[in-house]
Amino acid sequence: MPADLILAIDQGTTSTRAILFDAGGRPMATAQRELPQHYPADGQVEHAPEDIWRDTVAVCRGVVDKAGVDAARVAAIGITNQRETTVVWDRRTGEVLHPAIVWQDRRTAGLCQALRREGAEAMVRQRTGLLLDPYFSATKLAWILDTVPGARRRAEAGELAFGTIDCFLLWRLTGGQVHATDATNAARTLLFNLETLDWDAELLRLFGIPAAVLPRVLDNSGPFGIATADLLGRPIPVLGMAGDQQAAAIGQACLAPGMIKSTYGTGCFALMNIGDRPRPSAHRLLTTLAYRLDGRASYALEGSIFVAGAAVQWLRDGLRLIPDAAATQGHAAALADTGGVYLVPAFTGLGAPYWDPDARGAILGLTRDSGVSHIVRAALESVCYQTRDLMDAMAADGGCALTALRVDGGMAANDWLMQFLADQLDLTVERPAVTETTALGAAFLAGLAAGLFPSLDAIATLWREERRFEPAADPAARERLYDGWKRAVARVRTTS
Ligand code: G3P
Repeated sequence: MPADLILAIDQGTTSTRAILFDAGGRPMATAQRELPQHYPADGQVEHAPEDIWRDTVAVCRGVVDKAGVDAARVAAIGITNQRETTVVWDRRTGEVLHPAIVWQDRRTAGLCQALRREGAEAMVRQRTGLLLDPYFSATKLAWILDTVPGARRRAEAGELAFGTIDCFLLWRLTGGQVHATDATNAARTLLFNLETLDWDAELLRLFGIPAAVLPRVLDNSGPFGIATADLLGRPIPVLGMAGDQQAAAIGQACLAPGMIKSTYGTGCFALMNIGDRPRPSAHRLLTTLAYRLDGRASYALEGSIFVAGAAVQWLRDGLRLIPDAAATQGHAAALADTGGVYLVPAFTGLGAPYWDPDARGAILGLTRDSGVSHIVRAALESVCYQTRDLMDAMAADGGCALTALRVDGGMAANDWLMQFLADQLDLTVERPAVTETTALGAAFLAGLAAGLFPSLDAIATLWREERRFEPAADPAARERLYDGWKRAVARVRTTS
């Protein structure tokens, strides 16, 4: 029986998915579970690592069942994951010490501010390409080591392991045999040096992290370890791993400098390939690793927005204004405009380019005529304005003319939103035939190492457009709307 399929695990913020791909990069079946979110206090977001593990096992088994294929046909596993989310566990028992602290969690804002006051930010930016913000893993890890009784001592004694979700899953899948991460996930910790492509001793000192907790860092495509037969009845190699936004960039075939993708999941993350040198941003974007293959790195500029799809989820579950995400389209299309209503979804602070962890959300411009549709449309528009904030910053950083934006993620299915996005950006928006690009990227990475795909170039030829949205807005009207957004953001900011 030929081993010609790839199993991609996509462990995202709000769900865990497994997708089985064939050797042409076509999805054959999907299994998914929603992940419970925990909000223990204002600005705090946690996940139960055991939920993540249980769901991962369930969706892997589920998707193979659903496709009706023999597990012997699965040549390799690729893993992609919500990045930065931090887990610490006992190396001997495998037991986790604390709930996973999710990337959105702001509990370490004070620590970041203290480090900024000490003047550490320039060094951190220069070495990591990131900023001193609670978004990244280092301060979350330090917080766990300092809060769980005995954790720091045990970490120093080599008894504990730290990992982002990729690393935690790899550890569990291999029955505790492999403690490793990939370079893209490592690059989101604030502990990884973008030039040396290794953990950085000075950064470890700055954040008070003992080197003994850290995983090995590997290329994105290659042998990570063997998932034991407990998963699918036979051992299967894990041959690809990447953070979800980097995986999406690969799934979108953004493999040449200047190509950009924007993924609309819980948040929105735009990545522009900038080639083989880590160029710093002058406009508060991140410089990050796009991928590392055969030891050679490609870099990206990244704009990270914390709330995109999560705003729609809030309309559905928090306010109960809509029955499902698809209903947003009808509300938005029913109006000529929001009548001056703006929604700034700074539920967990503002990400790029503002980086204001203490900002909180607001609905502004309400009048007696404002109704549900105005608020729903304002939520959708906020996703487009935030994307424009990022694209303007990317354009201002220079280097490449923006030609088109490739979109993916759940919200990319919303035609109204994609047209408004093209109008607001004044840029062509391209939607691919396979919008599960995150999982597809992980499958490509695993398939490369399995020999199912010969090269990155071969992968790029598999990308297919489903639909493109051309900008058609009146320039003056577009700028008027965006000015209103800028004024609304200024109202919620706590920093300038
Ligand atoms: O940096 C956080 C990001 O990786 C989360 O992605 O798709 O789970 O919102 P998503």
